[in-house]
Amino acid sequence: MKIAFFSTQPYDVTFFNKENKQFGFELEYFETGLEEQTVGLVTEDTDVVCVFVNDKVDAEVIERLAEKKIKYIALRCAGFNNVDLDAAHKHNIRVCRVPAYSPEAVAEHTLAMLFTLNRKIHKAYNRVREQNFSLNGLLGTNIYKKTVGIIGTGNIGSVFCRMMKALGTEVLAYDVYPNKALEADGTVRYVELDELFTKSDIISLHCPLTPETLHIINEENIQKMKDGVMLINTSRGKLIDTHAIIQGLRNKKIGALGIDVYEQEEKVFFRDLSGTILEDERLQLLTSFPNVLVTAHQAFFTDEALTQIAFVTLDNLKQLSTTNEIVGRVAEL
Ligand code: NAI
Repeated sequence: MKIAFFSTQPYDVTFFNKENKQFGFELEYFETGLEEQTVGLVTEDTDVVCVFVNDKVDAEVIERLAEKKIKYIALRCAGFNNVDLDAAHKHNIRVCRVPAYSPEAVAEHTLAMLFTLNRKIHKAYNRVREQNFSLNGLLGTNIYKKTVGIIGTGNIGSVFCRMMKALGTEVLAYDVYPNKALEADGTVRYVELDELFTKSDIISLHCPLTPETLHIINEENIQKMKDGVMLINTSRGKLIDTHAIIQGLRNKKIGALGIDVYEQEEKVFFRDLSGTILEDERLQLLTSFPNVLVTAHQAFFTDEALTQIAFVTLDNLKQLSTTNEIVGRVAEL
């Protein structure tokens, strides 16, 4: 079976080549993302396209893949908002993903962002390097006894809820499908979204991007939040209306913002643009604020997660091609 990889980074090649020793598939790597302009790279002898978070697998691309008789689209990530599932089903192309490769990796990165912003570690690091040992401007707060609001309590959100509970915070949660175990053992209290917005000192987003969650952080909801609230998003960029969040930062409603994902990230993330002038003015503005921390979609980026992603992606394809179903994981879409 031949698999064409899009948006390939050097670490993808390392981890997939290593795991593929036990599967023996033919792997072809393209650095470019998959979109209408690049779908022509897929050759007729290819069976699978393997894509990542910013590949555009829309109806047009899927139609072209169907013409090339592609059997499977394998997402090497958990989120699948970039794939037109209806179009894939219409053309009998089966779609699989890696539902929970390492929720701890993403939850730990979320925690790292929270602590960095609260204790201003990003500023302290630079200061000390310049022999500025002053503490002025580095004041933080205790996280202990604060109220944390977590939107989405699935694989990642539930791990993050437990981490926050262990720190002695009160954890408020909102999810369309509450996790009964989290509630039963006293880790969280499920509340309506409005209560979460009004009572939380820190809000962290762990829900998928859907039509219902698109811009869930908008001007109206920002107004409901506590003054100086910290907001962290390690889920998907479009959960936040960037214009509204910039306004919120400017008028000090938002005290700190940590984002590992960004609305327009497909044009910049996963690339080294250090020798260029950044064209995205909103991102440039955000990175200039002292209370904003931006990381470039790296929450998943641990050795354990990459090993698991490579194994599960290839194992999904092995199972689909041999037994026609994936047993033991909610991987087929
Ligand atoms: P999951 O599917 O296990 O959990 C998502 C939860 O969100 C579910 O409990 C679901 O009921 C809930 N949800 C759905 N619609 C909602 C709504 N309208 N309001 C509130 N809650 C809602 O997904 P998982 O694995 O926890 O991942 C969460 C998100 O994290 C993914 O969708 C993905 O976008 C993102 N992610 C980001 C990574 C990164 O590197 N930054 C890596 C992996 C995932």
